[in-house]
Amino acid sequence: MGGTGERTRVGIVLAVVGLVLVLGACKPLREYPAAQAMFFGTAARANLLSDPTYTTTLAREFNGLTPANELKWDTIHPAQNTYNFGPADALVSFARAHDMKVRGVPLLWHEQNPGWLDNGGFDGTAMRNIMAAHIATVVGHYRGRIVQWDVVNEPFASDGTLRNTVFRKIGLRYMDDAFAMAHAADPAAKLFLNERGIEVPGPKADGVFDAISKMKERGVPINGVGFQMHADTVVPTAQQLAAQIARYASIGVEVAITEMDVKLAIPANATALAAQARAYYDGLAACRAAPNCHTFVTWGFTDKYSWIPQFFPGMGDAMMLDESYTNKPAYDALNRQLGQG
Ligand code: XIL
Repeated sequence: MGGTGERTRVGIVLAVVGLVLVLGACKPLREYPAAQAMFFGTAARANLLSDPTYTTTLAREFNGLTPANELKWDTIHPAQNTYNFGPADALVSFARAHDMKVRGVPLLWHEQNPGWLDNGGFDGTAMRNIMAAHIATVVGHYRGRIVQWDVVNEPFASDGTLRNTVFRKIGLRYMDDAFAMAHAADPAAKLFLNERGIEVPGPKADGVFDAISKMKERGVPINGVGFQMHADTVVPTAQQLAAQIARYASIGVEVAITEMDVKLAIPANATALAAQARAYYDGLAACRAAPNCHTFVTWGFTDKYSWIPQFFPGMGDAMMLDESYTNKPAYDALNRQLGQG
């Protein structure tokens, strides 16, 4: 009675349950209902679409992608009357073939612009015409195929004031015009203002919030704000992030996590990798917990192709998979987070 045989049976049942839990916890990220309920994506590069390990992983883990560089003016609008849609088209076709959605990034930025735009000496009127043509042509080309646009990227300085860019020549309200133009070109697309460093409290976070509140009051068709979340191990606490997201809910504005990565000093040790995993977990958890966050995008997924080592010497190891596409603690943390009901 209740002897060895029964204990063995109980042991076998527990082992099977354990195995199912472990295997269940390892499914690709995009297969979780929680991921399916959101835009769960990553930045992708057209010149890597010929790498089968890259493409297989991209399509297996994510239900959305954002072209990393292919929509920036130096690629897509290399001369005033020339558009080069090829690289972005390749990514948009890939997305369609793998049932993924696309975020377009960005329509206006002060970096990766061609010389003809930066050095053309255009006055405000000419610049407004150039901006109008660019937005109508690019958003029009992808109408119905790009579901979210970052209309403007990084328009604010670190003190929260409007950054001086070529587009500011149009006037201090150039963003109002840009959002209206994008909305006219694709009324169904959701339109965002994307910014870095506003996940944490401070003058920049407040300046951006204030500016977006006023845009909403003026009736500008802005749907959301992007928090880039390029982090290192000093990341916003879960509470700080939740507070920044919540105040946008109060003015009817969505928040998207648009470019998350967590750079580490290399070589990274186990403690740093654990802190990184926690940061990814918290970022996703804060988004999922908020009623106004439905988009979580990482800026790449394998350390093999991350932008960090080139831009931040001595740093790297920022992604959820290592250079051989092996899961890091960050991947397991995202997997666990998506598994939470
Ligand atoms: C980066 C790309 O990943 C690099 O390949 C490129 O050389 C430079 O730009 N914030 C942004 C992104 O908004 O567009 C940047 O992407 C990373 C920082």
